[in-house]
Amino acid sequence: MTRYTKVAAALHWLIAVAILANFVFGTWMVDLDLSPAKLRYYSYHKWLGVSVFLLVLLRIAWRISHRPPVLPAHMPTWERVAAGVSHFALYGLTLAVPLSGWLFSSAKGFKTVYFAVIPIPDLLAKNPPLADTLKLWHLSLNYVMALLVLLHVAAALKHHFMDRDDVLVRMWPFGRSGSPSSPSSPCLSAPHRSPWTWPEARSRSSRSRWACRWTARCASSTCSSISTPRSRRPAA
Ligand code: HEM
Repeated sequence: MTRYTKVAAALHWLIAVAILANFVFGTWMVDLDLSPAKLRYYSYHKWLGVSVFLLVLLRIAWRISHRPPVLPAHMPTWERVAAGVSHFALYGLTLAVPLSGWLFSSAKGFKTVYFAVIPIPDLLAKNPPLADTLKLWHLSLNYVMALLVLLHVAAALKHHFMDRDDVLVRMWPFGRSGSPSSPSSPCLSAPHRSPWTWPEARSRSSRSRWACRWTARCASSTCSSISTPRSRRPAA
């Protein structure tokens, strides 16, 4: 597998946009004066939050049943460990943030009715002192998640602009999906498949793509060299 499946990539970006939107929307709505409009906005916030919760469950199920592509060979151990730990924490937080909002809403005594149609069961009985604590948890978990998302984005940009590997590109949903564990898949991992690639990689890869097409097998060093970060390639 050389890149994420389309479903995994679509879920990744959909959840990312929904979380960002709900973060901004939640921060904005709490400071409004009490009005029917504010209560409506709270409902929109809850609907989007519950949708994120369901999408994250779907994403975790997909992740368990579909192995992700392997990390680039040049990554040192500390980076691999950091990536594993931060991805695990991100899955946990993207569940914990909506869950804390749901618990808070239940303890506050406000029922959530999904899209004004499906009543969501209350997880707790009404309990105002507990609601105050859960509100603080909802806020704090949001800030921890925001910090981790910033680190995650910084790491992705480092891979793309400094290491110049395909870690960011392979999560892009519009490329061709890699065939799982296919021996010819190194051809598909070539960064030339994306318009976001470096000019040097693109010109090297058009030659290699030609070679891959004609040999139908891509076990040769021609193809694997495309995935090697530019900074680590021997001088020509
Ligand atoms: C993607 C998921 C979610 C994100 C990113 C998110 C984010 C936020 C943020 C940033 C705030 C503002 C906190 C503050 O400044 O005090 C907030 C408030 C709130 N959230 Fe969420 N939230 C999510 C899911 C949910 C869910 C699923 C529910 C309930 C079912 C919920 C219920 C609430 C409520 C009721 C408030 C208002 C708190 C108050 O009255 O001060 N949230 N949320």
